[in-house]
Amino acid sequence: MSRRKKKEIIIENVKITGIADKGKAVGRDEDGVVYFVSDAVPGDVVNILRLKKRKGVYLGMVKDFVRYSPDRVKPVCEHFGVCGGCKWQHLDYAVQLQHKNQTVLDAMSRIAKIDTDCISPIKGADKIYQYRNKIEYSFSNKRWLTNEEIKSAGKIEQSPALGFHRAGAFEKVVDIMKCHLQDDLTNDIRNFIRDFADENRYTYYDTLNHHGFLRNIFLRNNVNDNWMITMVFGEKNLKEIHHLLDAVVDRFPRIEALYYIVNTKKNDSIFDQNPIHYHGEKYLKETLGAVNYKISPKSFFQTNTYQAVELFDIVEKYASLTGKENVYDLYTGIGSIALYLAKSVKQVVGIEEIEDAIKDAKINAELNNINNAVFYVGDVKNILTTEFAEKHGKPDVVITDPPRAGMHKDIIAMLLELESPSLVYVSCNPATQARDIVLLKEKYDVVKMQPVDMFPHTHHIENVALLKLKS
Ligand SMILES: C[S@@+](CC[C@H](N)C(=O)[O-])C[C@H]1O[C@@H](n2cnc3c(N)ncnc32)[C@H](O)[C@@H]1O
Repeated sequence: MSRRKKKEIIIENVKITGIADKGKAVGRDEDGVVYFVSDAVPGDVVNILRLKKRKGVYLGMVKDFVRYSPDRVKPVCEHFGVCGGCKWQHLDYAVQLQHKNQTVLDAMSRIAKIDTDCISPIKGADKIYQYRNKIEYSFSNKRWLTNEEIKSAGKIEQSPALGFHRAGAFEKVVDIMKCHLQDDLTNDIRNFIRDFADENRYTYYDTLNHHGFLRNIFLRNNVNDNWMITMVFGEKNLKEIHHLLDAVVDRFPRIEALYYIVNTKKNDSIFDQNPIHYHGEKYLKETLGAVNYKISPKSFFQTNTYQAVELFDIVEKYASLTGKENVYDLYTGIGSIALYLAKSVKQVVGIEEIEDAIKDAKINAELNNINNAVFYVGDVKNILTTEFAEKHGKPDVVITDPPRAGMHKDIIAMLLELESPSLVYVSCNPATQARDIVLLKEKYDVVKMQPVDMFPHTHHIENVALLKLKS
């Protein structure tokens, strides 16, 4: 039933039944019309404000709750709902996993049209908080104000903030006092820097007008509780930079490496910047399985160290290695998977388009005395050719771990030409993985699948598939 109120269209009694792409809730009204709804969870019954139609489905916003889902839990975070980082913290973790599982089952049955009996239940995380090894905080001269603050106090003086950018309002930052995604020291370091900055009257960055002294803090930690900090400043004021960094070093002995960057560009990206080493070690060390990694300020690294090991173990098991295999690792990043498997194979060949990541892969191969791994920089589409396979030998196993968009169809065509007996497809987007499987089915059967939860409280899902060449 719907009732009109001015120009608003309110749809009543929408039952929320599942989760759609990007974590939106899926609901149906009493006539079976489907809505993608923000801020609701499966099990809720809601009245919604109908918004525009996108790709044939109406979007909606919760107007009021008729009934709350029994699967709701009290979010642990004081910033929940404002920060936007952990969208599902108010949903029981077991139920989050069920929905992630269902997302994989749906993609594989509807898009890939495979028998879903080969899909094992999702591997959940033991550590559902403090699982990230990297967090970026931003300074802004404009704090994000909640609707409640604006309503209760009328006009509020603009104040600065240190925390996370609010989605959709790039110049505003939610002031974070406690984040649960990284070890708690992240909060002590960030809050200390904020207090020190305020005592010394340092200015926070103004993203609209491009000025201000303090811009970003990148905090990385390893499982042994050692830390790397990269502080980014918008102005080259060395006296003040040293004053702040010295205070941070004095206060936090767990900081193993400290860098700073003076970024006077308009954007926050540090990939074209030169981090200046200020204190301690040049690298943070981390171990995945038996492999040691040196992580520099700009290195790419799996963000959840604990679940990365689980993921790589599944890849290794699916690859059924005997020590004789020639393995290709497509989209290798810093070679994490390639190096993890190197001890169990004859040769591993990694391909990755980011030059700095390949530099790290080579440094890490050397650090671990791995001599049977070679790495190439470039687009997989251009590097993986018939000639490349002639040079390196046909693969016995191909591991592929593309970004969310999945693989280009030319790469899939090349994989079909190469006819590797096994293909292990790691994906962070089951929908594009299922689309790619449709093409791969020409020569491959899907034998096993294992979803893994790398990011509790978010909608992200990792899924590993084993495909075997048809006989
Ligand atoms: C999901 S990550 C995989 C990372 C790696 N397997 C790991 O476990 O750390 C995808 C990687 O593919 C790279 N990439 C994206 N498109 C690419 C392309 N067309 N050719 C080569 N590399 C690409 C990205 O830079 C990124 O490092």
